[in-house]
Amino acid sequence: MIHEHDVVIVGAGIAGLYAALESSKHFDTAVVSKVYPTRSHSISAQGGTAAALGSLEEDHWEWHFYDTVRGSDYLGDQDAQEILVREAIEVAYELEHMGCPFSRTDEGKIAQREFGGHYSNYGKGGAIRRMCMAADRTGHAMLHTLYEQCIKHGVRFYSEFFVVSLLVENNVCSGVVAWDMRKGGLRVFHGKTTMFGTGGYARAWKVNTNALSNTGDGMSLVLQAGLPLEDMEFVQFHPTGLFPSGVLVTEGARGEGGYLVNSEGKRFMEKYAAAKMELAPRDVVSRSIQQEIDEGRGIGGKGFVHLDLRHLGREAIMEKLPQIHELILKFAGIDAVTDFVPILPTAHYAMGGIPTNVDGQVIMDAKNTPVPGFYASGECACVSVHGANRLGCNSTMDCAVYGRRTGRAMVRHIQAGMVKPDLPKDGLEKARAKIDWYLGLKGKESPASIRDELQTTMMANCWIFREEKLLKKQLEILKSLQERFKNISVGYKGNRFNTELLDAIELGNILDFAETIVVGALARTESRGAHYRRDFPKRDDVNWLKHTLAWKTDTGIRLDYKPVVITKYKPEERKF
Ligand code: FUM
Repeated sequence: MIHEHDVVIVGAGIAGLYAALESSKHFDTAVVSKVYPTRSHSISAQGGTAAALGSLEEDHWEWHFYDTVRGSDYLGDQDAQEILVREAIEVAYELEHMGCPFSRTDEGKIAQREFGGHYSNYGKGGAIRRMCMAADRTGHAMLHTLYEQCIKHGVRFYSEFFVVSLLVENNVCSGVVAWDMRKGGLRVFHGKTTMFGTGGYARAWKVNTNALSNTGDGMSLVLQAGLPLEDMEFVQFHPTGLFPSGVLVTEGARGEGGYLVNSEGKRFMEKYAAAKMELAPRDVVSRSIQQEIDEGRGIGGKGFVHLDLRHLGREAIMEKLPQIHELILKFAGIDAVTDFVPILPTAHYAMGGIPTNVDGQVIMDAKNTPVPGFYASGECACVSVHGANRLGCNSTMDCAVYGRRTGRAMVRHIQAGMVKPDLPKDGLEKARAKIDWYLGLKGKESPASIRDELQTTMMANCWIFREEKLLKKQLEILKSLQERFKNISVGYKGNRFNTELLDAIELGNILDFAETIVVGALARTESRGAHYRRDFPKRDDVNWLKHTLAWKTDTGIRLDYKPVVITKYKPEERKF
């Protein structure tokens, strides 16, 4: 069956829904999602969304711009970063006017809190209240608001459809093929424009903050279609995951005044970032925690340190961090009002992804040539606003600002006469062959063991501290897992909710994109932002102030590089 629409959007998180809202005001828009829209991972964003509103104190988009550039360790494209911070202000108020239930100041303004890396006065002042918050459920508030608006504007939702193929022929995109998870069978979604808002990939690591669905499918589909990914070696490790699973404990907990302490009872951030302490940027705080653990100062010599919220008091915790309080109680049996919270760094976010320009058009090479008809936005995309290290709360705002821009760009391009590209003649057959290949697998290997080995070894060899020997080892492991993957078994052959089939496809996707992370990290012989090489501990602007592009080829991953856009701030040493 072929579904004809003007705009086809894959993914129903903040980016996908904001784009759908914009395009549906003018054109027939479909959103295809493997989960019910309000189960998209944006729902889990906790602490806030960044915009220099100055609800509680002086703030300016220029300060936010400087912090974002410096936070990115100068790898972000400054044209894209400036757009983010300028449009963030308008977008925050637009969300408010749509009915987003933000928390309020005593004067009734949007409430804001502190987060790491966001400071006043071009980084010279202290942490600033810039994060617009809905208690600690900000993503939930934003996602539901956008979903309501999409329903109101007649967006057509196809929930529980799993995209298995991106239709690109002669570098032009005409849509996707998706597997109907409820009934089985393949459907073609044919659009004048196709957009991916397919989210991140932190499920490649055992300890992570991500939903089960975050298996980097969009990124792998792009690789499989012969297009590149950008800056995949830059992976964000959030400082505070609840021990041992890594479930997110919002940075808002430190923004509200929480401390980090080691086995000696010391606030160890004094040693690593004396001026900004627990509110240094995430790459710095995560490395500091990991170093404390590695050097034996984890609590009881184990793999965690303590987050101390006790001094905040019950009232503040219950008002500003109610979900976190509940989550810590349910997952760890600990009452954060009276007890320390055990935390460890946890894989959280993809700084890299599908390369785009500032209109969300996917680009195919180092010359920034767009792929006609194809767009991407949100975590799956790399525009690049986050560079080598994202600041907390710039993600939900990236999704909102660039989702909205991408929706508007698709409208402009269709209005300018973009016609619906023909579908590739063999698009459906190739997708069917892919499903048949998976359903035909009758080998001896267990997908669950391969996934477990993949996640465990990515933690051992491609984590916060990296080095050549370990990365080479991981590349060998990945190649052997890719071989073993061909020998897995998909036992259940049925159509209805065949989770065995879906798990296998997701695992195949992880194995594909994970290679670009490891190869990119091995090639980048410097330390920048979240990519830290013990064997190359310094940033090297002479050789590495450039973005990585990675293609999947028959002989492995091919790399190329493209320049970083610098409009205002020349790279300087980062000190916190
Ligand atoms: O800590 C948090 O609430 C996460 C926010 C983010 O990743 O931006």
